Amino acid sequence: MNDQSRTTKFLKDYAPPEYLIKDVALDVSLAPKGARVSSRLTIEPSAGTVAGTPLVLDGEALTLESIALNGQELEAGRYTLSPGKLTIANPPVGSFTLDIVTRCDPEANLELSGLYLSNGTYCTQCEPEGFRRITYFIDRPDVLATYTVRIEADRKTVPVLLSNGNPVDAGEIEGTGRHYAIWHDPHPKPSYLFALVGGNLASIHDTFTTASGREVALGIYVEPGKEDRCEWAMESLKRAMRWDEERFGLEYDLDVFNIVAVSDFNMGAMENKGLNIFNDKLVLARPDTASDADYTSIESVIAHEYFHNWTGNRVTCRDWFQLCLKEGLTVFRDQEFTDDVRMGPVMRILTARLLKARQFPEDAGPLAHPVRPASYIEINNFYTATVYEKGAELCRMLQTLIGKDAFRQGIALYFERNDGTAATVEDFVSAMADASGRDLTQFMRWYTQSGTPEIACSLDYDPHAKKARLKVSQVVPPTPGQTSKEPMHIPLKVGLIGANGDELPLKLNGEAVPGGLLEVTEREQVFEFENIPAPPTPSILRDFSAPVRVTSSLKPEQIEFLMIHDADPFNRWQAAQTYATDLIASAARDGLDLGPVSGHQAGRLAQALEPTLRDETLAPTYRAETLKLPSESDIARELGRNVDTDAILAARETLRKTLSEAMAATLSEIYEATATDEDFSPDPDSAGRRALRNAALDLMTATGTQEAIDRAMRHYRNATNMTDSIMALSVLSHIPSDECDEALDDFYTRWQDDPLVLDKWFAVQARAGRPDSVATVNRLLGHSKFSLKNPNRVRALIGSFAMGNPSGFNRADGAGYKFLAEQALKIDGFNPHVAARLLGAFESWKTLEPRRQAHAKKALEGLASAELSTDAYEIVTKTLG
Ligand code: PHE
Ligand code: ZN
Repeated sequence: MNDQSRTTKFLKDYAPPEYLIKDVALDVSLAPKGARVSSRLTIEPSAGTVAGTPLVLDGEALTLESIALNGQELEAGRYTLSPGKLTIANPPVGSFTLDIVTRCDPEANLELSGLYLSNGTYCTQCEPEGFRRITYFIDRPDVLATYTVRIEADRKTVPVLLSNGNPVDAGEIEGTGRHYAIWHDPHPKPSYLFALVGGNLASIHDTFTTASGREVALGIYVEPGKEDRCEWAMESLKRAMRWDEERFGLEYDLDVFNIVAVSDFNMGAMENKGLNIFNDKLVLARPDTASDADYTSIESVIAHEYFHNWTGNRVTCRDWFQLCLKEGLTVFRDQEFTDDVRMGPVMRILTARLLKARQFPEDAGPLAHPVRPASYIEINNFYTATVYEKGAELCRMLQTLIGKDAFRQGIALYFERNDGTAATVEDFVSAMADASGRDLTQFMRWYTQSGTPEIACSLDYDPHAKKARLKVSQVVPPTPGQTSKEPMHIPLKVGLIGANGDELPLKLNGEAVPGGLLEVTEREQVFEFENIPAPPTPSILRDFSAPVRVTSSLKPEQIEFLMIHDADPFNRWQAAQTYATDLIASAARDGLDLGPVSGHQAGRLAQALEPTLRDETLAPTYRAETLKLPSESDIARELGRNVDTDAILAARETLRKTLSEAMAATLSEIYEATATDEDFSPDPDSAGRRALRNAALDLMTATGTQEAIDRAMRHYRNATNMTDSIMALSVLSHIPSDECDEALDDFYTRWQDDPLVLDKWFAVQARAGRPDSVATVNRLLGHSKFSLKNPNRVRALIGSFAMGNPSGFNRADGAGYKFLAEQALKIDGFNPHVAARLLGAFESWKTLEPRRQAHAKKALEGLASAELSTDAYEIVTKTLG
């Protein structure tokens, strides 16, 4: 750690680089005893740089062997090395070249940033600041260069050599047993998009012909023996390439596109130009090893990284404060893709659920930050749900406000103006404003104000004037560093429903309201709908048209009414969620039982659910989503304070049991009707049927009876694919029984040598909300197959426990917090990035009841007094507040 690393960086301090690197020639020699990197940089001063301005290069964990300026070796006195920096005090005027030779040690690189070894494969990860761990460089995204890369390695053990761009040349180095490959990327790019891979990899190949008729060679590289798990990723890639042409007119721009799957990776995947590197969990799929959820996330992440080729690579970010410019927009694009090719109306439910589960707590807690942060200590800590998921919501709101056509034109204008450059959020929003003719000044607040806006709605009916007045008010709550806020520009989709369930036409001041879209811009606004014959029921925030919380004063009967009659599929689903949330939350607030009133309401909930569940015209996925009750974390969020996770678990289980009994007939009919003996196919319909069947199973087994256990065990034994096996295992894992142990043993025996599947075995046990869960995760830490060094395994066991087992992690005696703090501290010693992410699990500690709060605080304070990386230091100190 150097002295710079704990300072806060501010967006307002942005200054353009003093020097630019226009061209890079790298020569990388890979060997077990360390890699040798020779780089030739063509450098020139930026316009306005004063002659003699020192040239400062970033560098970390490097050993400098030599440095030459314009071909002349530089003596020791002409440059200085300080932690993280190499400075050349008095560079020549005009353009010059630097030749730098360094060594780095991939084997010792457990941070997985820069050049490292993953299970014997050399690979790189450069975003955000990893390139400086490969060679000295001006490692910031607004320095764009063309790259030529020569890689050299042992021919037998490292037969595959890949880098960005197009292949230029390859060959043997006579008499040495070594070989080389040369790659050239003609597109100027920032250093964070650099990548290189060397290894003994198997591959599958295909081609894609672009809209303008160019043929692109596609390759997916994996560990030998895994070739039979690549087909889905390849199909997904081709689908994504076609979709981006059709929807946004964007074509691929190189002769080759390669994907490499590695087993040690800090994140999901990385969009390096022409050479995406993936966590293998997001590439490998076979019906017996991957669940429908895996198939879906593979498809969407393959698309996401591919879409970055335009949104991120062709136009990149000026600085890391603009991260949402590429991530928010690319998430929005991948969501639209999944909506089109797979999910349809269910997509909005899935994205809203994810946003509420991950981003809302972030926005309400001590780590809240704007979609475009104004400051950070460690940029690695800002790959957050706010930047990604809320960032995507901002793009969606723009599209809603200006319309789909104008949005597409805005995208075209954005590329016309910014292609090949490093841009800002203003560049993006101004393209949208200019393409649509709309003033988006107020909308910009979404990028700078943190916190989830709270919308309150109330409806008054005037029988004489036949008018319905919708009063809307908005408050953006205070967040760290931002005490008072300005009102936001909020697209609010609404509908009014008549007593017979009919949609009433909306008219404001004599004009129709297209799509029911209201624009809320003031703190308080009244919308007066005309020609409303009788008191209607309002449906607010249809399609989840903005990332806000809504409170409305609807009575339970009105919510039941919406569950049956709302024409908006999102709000029909939301009504059921709201109804169940209210029931569980009020029970959890008071004690453990549902009570007679809620007991009666649970029965009504069951009744109101039936029509949707039985409606064969609805997609099975949609019906499955309707069957899923709000999660324990959803309830905790609804309570917002004084949270007792045991009370939530108990109340939720009681409701599940009640529903299970009340709906027994329907559930078993669904379960039988969705059975199939067809071969597994990942298509949306088949996946939807499995989802519906498994959701039914889950609720049926809520009774916890021997009959339920037997049924789950049968489900496990009869499973012919991973979706069904893992669901059965998950259901069983919540109810302690011999059958549960038997199934876990069986699963382990079958999959012990398959890391990705074994991760599921760890995760399912870590998530089980049982009194013995802390003991279980502690025992699994000592399992011979467990390792702290592999991020997927760490996330499977420790991450699943901390983020996916609220009652276990928040155990009243603090044992869960202690467990996480101890493990995170160990991991922080070699992989700060992964450790800091795990510590995010503490983000809602201030909403807990006092006893749990005290334990969480103690764990955090213990961490704060330990020796921490910059990453963990930032999270721990900010979380403590
Ligand atoms: N940029 C990657 C993405 O597509 C995420 C990532 C960030 C991967 C940092 C590795 C390191 O979202
Ligand atoms: Zn991304």
